[in-house]
Amino acid sequence: MKLNAFTLTAIVAIQSVTATGGNNFTRRCSRLLEIFKFSDTRVLSSGYTPKGTNITYPNLHPTCGQNWIVAEANMCRLILNVTTSSTSNVIMEVWMPENWKTSGQRFAMTGNGGVSGCITLSDLAFTTSLGFATVGHNNGHDGTSSAPFLDRSEVIKDFAWRATLIATKVGKAATNLFYQVPLTKSYYWGCSGGGRQGLKIAQDFPEEYDGIIAGNPAADFHRLVASGLYYGYQTGPPSSPTWLSLEQWQAVDAEVLAQCDTIDGVEDKVLEDPLKCKPRFENMLCGQLETWGTHQCLTPSQVSAVEKIYSPVYGNKGRFFAPAVQPGNDQTFGFYLIYGAPSELGVEYLRYAIKNDATWELPPTLDEFLDIMDELLDHDPYGTSANNPNLTPLKNSGHKLLVYHGASDGYYSHENTIKLYESTARNMTLKAKQLDDFYRLFPVAGLNHCNGGNGAWYFGGSGQNGLGISGVNPNDSLIMKMVRWVENGEAPDTIRGYQINLATGKPAGATREHCRHPLKNTYKGSGDPLSPGSWECKLGTKYP
Ligand SMILES: *[C@@H]1O[C@H](CO)[C@@H](O)[C@H](O)[C@H]1NC(C)=O
Ligand SMILES: *[C@@H]1O[C@H](CO)[C@@H](O)[C@H](O)[C@H]1NC(C)=O
Ligand SMILES: *[C@@H]1O[C@H](CO)[C@@H](O)[C@H](O)[C@H]1NC(C)=O
Ligand SMILES: *[C@@H]1O[C@H](CO)[C@@H](O)[C@H](O)[C@H]1NC(C)=O
Ligand SMILES: *[C@@H]1O[C@H](CO)[C@@H](O)[C@H](O)[C@H]1NC(C)=O
Repeated sequence: MKLNAFTLTAIVAIQSVTATGGNNFTRRCSRLLEIFKFSDTRVLSSGYTPKGTNITYPNLHPTCGQNWIVAEANMCRLILNVTTSSTSNVIMEVWMPENWKTSGQRFAMTGNGGVSGCITLSDLAFTTSLGFATVGHNNGHDGTSSAPFLDRSEVIKDFAWRATLIATKVGKAATNLFYQVPLTKSYYWGCSGGGRQGLKIAQDFPEEYDGIIAGNPAADFHRLVASGLYYGYQTGPPSSPTWLSLEQWQAVDAEVLAQCDTIDGVEDKVLEDPLKCKPRFENMLCGQLETWGTHQCLTPSQVSAVEKIYSPVYGNKGRFFAPAVQPGNDQTFGFYLIYGAPSELGVEYLRYAIKNDATWELPPTLDEFLDIMDELLDHDPYGTSANNPNLTPLKNSGHKLLVYHGASDGYYSHENTIKLYESTARNMTLKAKQLDDFYRLFPVAGLNHCNGGNGAWYFGGSGQNGLGISGVNPNDSLIMKMVRWVENGEAPDTIRGYQINLATGKPAGATREHCRHPLKNTYKGSGDPLSPGSWECKLGTKYP
């Protein structure tokens, strides 16, 4: 027989199919244990896992939360240990569904939250159920604390960007080998810390993903740390005259709604554009002989503290550190206001990643703290912050970036994300219509930090899928919108969000088509406000 190029290819293909275990999915999956070779990578296990299997993680770091997840597809589950330096490694999982070849042959990467090394298991399960071969990884360390960063700069580097990049390369190689045909398109999706990871990819490695979804991105990570701790200095400990209890913060929130809820024309506990709300907190001052106990009012010291928290943060040299907490943030004041202690995330990050001193404590005065933050903003030793406005490489790659940010996020204001968008517009000298070609930002009114909120917050985004919510077709989820943008050129004009009845886990109440920046959802003045048809996307005022 004369061998031509075609028969040669065919023979090689037959050989590799045999090597991978023939056409039997289960056998091919087990065979990965021996045949998957990639530099610095060891296969820890590989096994067929049918839909409905309760996958448990008995050794999961306790701070990572729920240590089990139910498989939502018949799949091959591959667990890998990848060495990233002589002192660091990443543990990753690749979930490869049986119906991949008939589901678009797509690859997806999930993100991590905060500084965590916790796989977002519900995200992993979700895109696997949609037929994507999906990767989750521990970002180079276990648990939610920064403690593993002490004396281990390579572990910080993994957290900053390297774990995601390496897990991407290894995950794609495993997918291509297992299915014996190359994947067609790759997608990234993550929220919070995972949003930061997504922007990092968009800025530094845009060639890796055809579509990147970055939700509530903690992009300017050092500014997040700075502002979170700054708020603690303003309120002080519970013994301080500037301290507010949870009930008092709830009253502050109620006051914000009383003053601002109707700005958008509809009284629904949701501010369509919180940046238009400039509440006057002196309204809450106690009169003579009035107290919180008698009149639910605040002292002048408390009102001053509230004012400071709803104002932008500046350093000692006048440098802008962070925008104000946005009004209407639904009492999710996050980790720094209501628990009576400074943000643990912030203190631990400074202690272990920046000061590299396990005994380091926050300085006693705000002035000293602001000096430390100034230093931090001058140096970003590992490139943790994803704040590069220049997206020219992404634009040139033809790949797409979709960013969303809950407009009632109490941890990190969506104004940060709008500022990043506008700095890209200036840096690249592009109008919003031109940015629309590859970069769309959706502020989502009534969405808190990744999930929950008073508004129409559910759209199948990262962190929204492990909550027992049903009744929304997964084909309507954000990642499938991204697929249609990348693969069919159908760019998303809006994100359809659903209000959820948490008791039933089903959509109930408002459905809203959230507009892309700089358009604002505007009530038409008549019609049922719960129905998306009663609203339109219009050019609103630029944020101040
Ligand atoms: C595939 O292989 C597994 C394990 O070797 C075996 O149990 C199963 O019956 C095989 N399936 C088919 C369809 O041959
Ligand atoms: C899965 O297993 C864990 C650990 O045994 C258990 O706590 C959990 O309830 C199980 N989940 C389901 C849905 O069975
Ligand atoms: C992964 O490999 C590293 C060496 O790079 C080793 O120290 C670690 O124990 C391994 N982890 C697991 C879970 O196998
Ligand atoms: C755009 O951003 C890049 C990277 O941060 C910077 O080097 C460059 O000077 C900026 N250009 C403009 C015009 O702002
Ligand atoms: C989602 O879309 C795919 C492809 O069009 C279709 O096969 C599948 O049935 C849809 N799923 C649902 C739940 O509608």
